[in-house]
Amino acid sequence: MASPTIHSKLPKVGTTIFTQMSMLAAEYKAINLGQGFPDFMMNPDLIALVNKSMQDGNNQYVHMNGLLSLRERLAEKMADLYDANIHPDSEITITPGGTYAIYTALTTVLRPGDEVIVFEPAYDSYIPNIIINGAIPVLIPLSFPSYSINWQLVKESITSKTKMIVLNSPNNPTGSVLSSYDIEHLRSVVKNTGIFILSDEVYEHLIFDDLRHESMLRYADLLERSFVCFSFGKTYHCTGWKLGYCVAPQPLMNEFRKVHQFNCFSSHSPVQFALSEFVQQKEQYLQLGKTIQ
Ligand SMILES: Cc1ncc(COP(=O)(O)O)c(C=O)c1O
Repeated sequence: MASPTIHSKLPKVGTTIFTQMSMLAAEYKAINLGQGFPDFMMNPDLIALVNKSMQDGNNQYVHMNGLLSLRERLAEKMADLYDANIHPDSEITITPGGTYAIYTALTTVLRPGDEVIVFEPAYDSYIPNIIINGAIPVLIPLSFPSYSINWQLVKESITSKTKMIVLNSPNNPTGSVLSSYDIEHLRSVVKNTGIFILSDEVYEHLIFDDLRHESMLRYADLLERSFVCFSFGKTYHCTGWKLGYCVAPQPLMNEFRKVHQFNCFSSHSPVQFALSEFVQQKEQYLQLGKTIQ
């Protein structure tokens, strides 16, 4: 009897570099700088809140878009930090991590043959996420030594098939950040086009030298075409909890939720109850860039 043959959708993809480096670090008992493993404790108050949340019985599915009280607190935070008017009911979805939010946003938009601009070096999920959707990554190197974006190259790379630009500020792995100069160029590149933006902002609070985080949330004309992805794991040093969220205008978020609802449906509930209290403590994230130095 013939046995089924699997034709890989990702023939060139191996095990992620993060897993490989972590395995080598464990084998050689080396200090592991290859993956996001903070070597300081997370806040015990947040652990206590999660514990209490479980004891209180918050252990069943929450709404597929995420706990509304958490989304409301996040909308307040985004209004406060970025002067953004985000509707908690229709424009925020809580996800099992930032990577999931990124994958879902790409899958929501991309069709086979679409081109997506990715700046390299890049977080390693972007390219496979694009390829698995049948789309084509268009790779643009960040300019050494500042790892800034060469906007002339971006302009030259735009074609009628360009569907999306992936941004990541602060950037992993280089640490470079977008400036107001970049925002002006981005605006002029996407103006009067159908190009979407995927903005990976999981390190929004790991920003130093009193630089301002240039979130897409600050700019209404950019936000109208953006999926903006965040991770609680990065902000509160609990990467293993895998909880994050995506922010997008309602028409985009409606489609995002169609993909999300039959993939994971709803995210870890006790942590969402705990975070809906904890995110109100501004000092927990505003001091981050300062305390980690
Ligand atoms: C740039 C970037 N985006 C997204 C993520 C993923 O975040 P999460 O663990 O919430 O999926 C990471 C994790 O290392 C990252 O470095």
